[in-house]
Amino acid sequence: MPKVIYELPDGTSATVDVPVGTSVMDAAVNENLPGIDAECGGSCSCGTCHVHIDEAWYSVLGEPSDEERELLEFTAEYCERSRLSCQLVVTGECDGLRLTVPTREG
Ligand code: FES
Repeated sequence: MPKVIYELPDGTSATVDVPVGTSVMDAAVNENLPGIDAECGGSCSCGTCHVHIDEAWYSVLGEPSDEERELLEFTAEYCERSRLSCQLVVTGECDGLRLTVPTREG
């Protein structure tokens, strides 16, 4: 099962076994990881599942949709490696995927 490594806002990290077909957001919520609130439940409308993908992995995940990109640009911690974790479905190629959960303001 692919392992996804979450760098958390408190400086610790969590390595989670994520079944193929599960979103990075759902896996984080199942593990009660801090910083991924996922208020809309994964419908690409809240932006509270925002993460920064490690540089080596960004291109592996493909490009965000226009809808996702528009929402990302309104998030406070937006950067060029930003993604919404609810839109990232884990595949067999994701073993070792590393991402950072940004510290949220306010
Ligand atoms: S959970 Fe709301 S946009 Fe991802």
